[in-house]
Amino acid sequence: MTRSAYPHIPLAHAGAVLGIDLEAVAANYRELCRRLDGVSCAGVVKSDAYGLGVEEVAPVLANAGCREFFVAHIEEGIELRKILPKAEIHILNGMFPGAEETYTENNLIPVIGSLHEAKIWKIWCGETPLPCDLHVDTGMLRLGLSPKELGQIADEPDLIQGLDIQNIISHLASADEAQSSQNVAQLNTFRRAREILPMGRASFCNSSGIFLGSEYHFDLARPGVALYGANPSPGNPNPMRDVVSLKARIVQVRDADMPETVGYGATYAIKKPSRIATVPVGYSDGVLRSLSNNSCGYIGEHCVPLVGRVSMDLITFDVSDVPEEFAHAGQWIEMIGPHHTVDDMARDANTIGYEVLTSLGRRYHRVYKGGSDE
Ligand SMILES: Cc1ncc(COP(=O)(O)O)c(C=O)c1O
Repeated sequence: MTRSAYPHIPLAHAGAVLGIDLEAVAANYRELCRRLDGVSCAGVVKSDAYGLGVEEVAPVLANAGCREFFVAHIEEGIELRKILPKAEIHILNGMFPGAEETYTENNLIPVIGSLHEAKIWKIWCGETPLPCDLHVDTGMLRLGLSPKELGQIADEPDLIQGLDIQNIISHLASADEAQSSQNVAQLNTFRRAREILPMGRASFCNSSGIFLGSEYHFDLARPGVALYGANPSPGNPNPMRDVVSLKARIVQVRDADMPETVGYGATYAIKKPSRIATVPVGYSDGVLRSLSNNSCGYIGEHCVPLVGRVSMDLITFDVSDVPEEFAHAGQWIEMIGPHHTVDDMARDANTIGYEVLTSLGRRYHRVYKGGSDE
């Protein structure tokens, strides 16, 4: 995927350094495989591998043993095909009418989500069935065959006759809430769907689903976010290794006194003589504006509160409690790292790790650890 106008920003020009630990991605894949105990494990690398760079991440997963990949869009599939010529690539968003040839040319497997799509694929395939998956909706009301369509297939199996169905898939709506009764309800619905659609393999689990127990595993798991270090089992210690770090460069430290305020809208009032450090990252770099006055960074072991509003290109931290030798222009503030993880930042922003990851901007100096010679 293209990195927009700023493909490789040198360290000297960058306001922040984004570290991506590819060894941790591989370790996370292996850990999920271990928990799956023999069940196949695909890798979900849509949205540029959740913002971390599909070009770098996908080969690392392949080297760790991953053979099957799921992306959302056809374009992502085309891109991934160039990176991994031999992988099985599945397109979650379905079969787009008019794009049949593109699937075939690039050896992409559409995840068919309706009888209408199934018909289009069947017509395209003619006498030579080409691989596809079938998505069954078990409670998302989003993509997948509806209960009505499933009933139609039960009455008239010819509707899907002649399709080369590799996987019957479904997606959990509340897997990150282990106690949710929706998990069991979807599991039962999926089992009933399998009675009507017993062909191919069954694929049900996302990252969190893997942690719900082996009855959820079926034949093929499809984890995404856990590969990238977010906690798939909220409320429990994170079993995954951290993948992402973000440190921002201090460009100025200002002495402030009452009655000054910080940033747009004057939302943070100085209450005692303070030192305010400015770093050149903002919501344009994916540091969400909802973190305004409600997050922190770290300088060494010192927690520095984020004060004032996050603006497009700048953020301010109160570094009053940090010795000056560690908090001056040219020093770094850890925004994501061992002290403050992706999930911590997501909690501060009242969102989820997925959004933090996929929002990560394009103006960082990116440093990938590991991966190239694995
Ligand atoms: C159908 C489907 N399967 C698997 C995944 C991977 O989910 P997760 O990142 O929660 O592991 C997604 C992600 O949204 C998805 O839409």
